[in-house]
Amino acid sequence: MPTIVTLTPNTTLDHTVIIPSFVHLKTIRSTGSFFSMGGKPTDASFILGTLGIPSLALGCAAGAIGRKVEDLLHERGVTTDFIEVNGETRINTIIVCEDVIGQTTLTVNTLDVLPEHVEALKRRYAEALEDASVVVMGGTLPRGVTPEFYAECIEMARARHVPTVYDAAEPNLSIGLAACPTYIKPNEAELGQLMGQTIESFEEAFAAGRQILEQYGTAPIITLGPQGALAVLPDRAYRIPPLPVEVVSAGGAGDAVLAGITASLHRGQPIEDGLRLGFAAAAATCLLPGTADVRAADVERLLPQVALIPYPG
Ligand SMILES: Nc1ncnc2c1ncn2[C@@H]1O[C@H](COP(=O)(O)OP(=O)(O)OP(=O)(O)O)[C@@H](O)[C@H]1O
Ligand SMILES: [Mg+2]
Repeated sequence: MPTIVTLTPNTTLDHTVIIPSFVHLKTIRSTGSFFSMGGKPTDASFILGTLGIPSLALGCAAGAIGRKVEDLLHERGVTTDFIEVNGETRINTIIVCEDVIGQTTLTVNTLDVLPEHVEALKRRYAEALEDASVVVMGGTLPRGVTPEFYAECIEMARARHVPTVYDAAEPNLSIGLAACPTYIKPNEAELGQLMGQTIESFEEAFAAGRQILEQYGTAPIITLGPQGALAVLPDRAYRIPPLPVEVVSAGGAGDAVLAGITASLHRGQPIEDGLRLGFAAAAATCLLPGTADVRAADVERLLPQVALIPYPG
């Protein structure tokens, strides 16, 4: 049975720290803190695993934090086979202030990847492609990996007729996109940077999405946070309104969309099924504080509420 493969060059553990209020130059005592999965493709693996869908997570990891990321994935039934590199898997810190809505993320870059690690990862990936149903890749890159790595991995998948779901910000997004992945999932800011203009309406998002589709044959699933999303497919498009959920933390909501699309590609279902699952899972991640944390029961309950409204209508 072919497997879902996720590829995360820059593995990450998220550390969420909740504080009453931010004050400069003072010791701030947290009122709560916890670790959760981070890194877009590993988030997708984590969510798929929570929904009972197995996957193989590849990428670069190192040190005790690398082991912790593996443990979290194993707990959800994900198989991992990371290349052990130098340095340490990252810990990104997410600061949640109780007196403001939203969150602040501090990111670090602590993995050190040598040319032989990149070669080992490409070999492991090529092997996995022989039995892959779909590949999810993306996120930032550690020192020692250039954006061309993504273009090469997308091309390798296409050569084997394996669909790809790619999610990255600039400069990685445009370099990977040039290799024509099957889907990309930019949010509003990522799409704006790619197009060199701010995206301020569904009309602008749609125009940008059509341009990407015509130029690369890649279907963009554009997520617009609390505004919902726009899926621009080869011969149709859908507006997907957000679900009315009590948002605790939207971190990883986009990665839930990756998980949904991936599940439908893996099962050979219409992409509409993947969009429904993905946006139900996205709403479910909003209900829990941890990045990429969902309850399967919430996803199931929210699934019938997801509407795909033909766009422009
Ligand atoms: N505040 C919110 N209220 C309701 N739904 C939301 C909210 N934020 C996100 N969502 C849902 O999740 C989807 C994906 O969110 P978003 O556009 O924030 O992705 P993202 O920026 O890629 O997130 P991340 O990178 O943290 O995973 C949205 O299209 C929407 O359906
Ligand atoms: Mg995202």
